[in-house]
Amino acid sequence: MAKTGSPKKAAPSLKVLAPVLAILVVVVVAIGARLAFLPGGQGDAAIGGPFELVNGQGETVTEQDFAGKYMLVYFGYTYCPDVCPTSLSLTGAALDMLTVEQRDQIAPIFITVDPDRDTPDVVGAYAKAFYPSMVGLTGTTAQVAAAARAYKVYFKKVEEEGDAPYLMDHSAITYLMGPDGKFLTHFSHGTPPEKIAEILGKYLSGSVKGS
Ligand code: NI
Repeated sequence: MAKTGSPKKAAPSLKVLAPVLAILVVVVVAIGARLAFLPGGQGDAAIGGPFELVNGQGETVTEQDFAGKYMLVYFGYTYCPDVCPTSLSLTGAALDMLTVEQRDQIAPIFITVDPDRDTPDVVGAYAKAFYPSMVGLTGTTAQVAAAARAYKVYFKKVEEEGDAPYLMDHSAITYLMGPDGKFLTHFSHGTPPEKIAEILGKYLSGSVKGS
């Protein structure tokens, strides 16, 4: 009968474990330090980046198509009963308060989180209805999910009772991205157009710099 639980056997196994534990601690600390210093690893700085989507004409577009312009990026869906129409109307009203020269530097972009219903035609027409220069983008489920991930946008399908069309839960934030594609600031849902226009004007004139 072997006595596996004897103290004589426990002692050497602790000696073996100690260096392993020491190495583990070093590795964990190193990973922690690495993460802490990753550029753009935290907060707003990490918002945005490359995307590949489809516009109202069915053409593939990427962030490169908007290079050199400020992008006002909003994610939503055309069946949205109130939040999206409100956000996009406020954006449109803010753009109307700018000069033509200022407006020309801005690309308002609406990206759907509901590509199943929001085909290129649908999303293109919807965006245009809120502002003539607003670009509506959709894509495959994977393309849309990747874009939403890049912008840290939350969305989730919500099934309704009976035959009612499903809704999409989604964040309702409008992002302002610089001509280099980098995040500058965001407008939370319901920001008055005067405020949006004032902040846009400051970024466009260079009196406020990006983060
Ligand atoms: Ni919405």
